Amino acid sequence: MSVREIVTAGHPALRQCTRELAPEELHTPAIQALIDDLIDTMRFAGGAGLAATQIAEPVRIAVVEVVPDHPRYPYKPPIPLTVLVNPELEPVGEETVEINEGCLSVPGLRGEVPRHLTVRARYLDRRGEPREELRRGLAAGTFQHEVDHLDGILFLDRVTDPRTLMTWESFERFHRDAFVARVAGLPR
Ligand code: NI
Repeated sequence: MSVREIVTAGHPALRQCTRELAPEELHTPAIQALIDDLIDTMRFAGGAGLAATQIAEPVRIAVVEVVPDHPRYPYKPPIPLTVLVNPELEPVGEETVEINEGCLSVPGLRGEVPRHLTVRARYLDRRGEPREELRRGLAAGTFQHEVDHLDGILFLDRVTDPRTLMTWESFERFHRDAFVARVAGLPR
């Protein structure tokens, strides 16, 4: 287990195609170590999620975890540690919500991104067991952000109004309260 380097916008690894894992490959020490590295690196960097592309590994694995009073995203409802292998997301309903997002691979910047309010996630866990669950609100946004990474997409690509791009400092100073009030009523 180790903390890996997180690559940043402009690094070709973030735009690479990723490959699916065969269930038997999941049990190899190399892939299990990669999953541990993703968890360690996410926790060390204080992220809400981390995708393999962000540590320059072109495989379809991402991890998500939001602890209570999260250091970077204290307003996010908690999400237990989730390892997503070969995830697929299906929007449920038409509703979307604008979410102010950041990304460990886009240091310093945040921006408003439209996300599906509810998604059905299908994936394998780290033991290869199939999982299916509904995610709503900010958690749905987090899942969409991480799966986007596995398709070579950054949140920057989905910002519809570039005027919403802001530094973290400006978010705290000018936009945080209104955003937190706006998302407080979202389903969990
Ligand atoms: Ni990200």
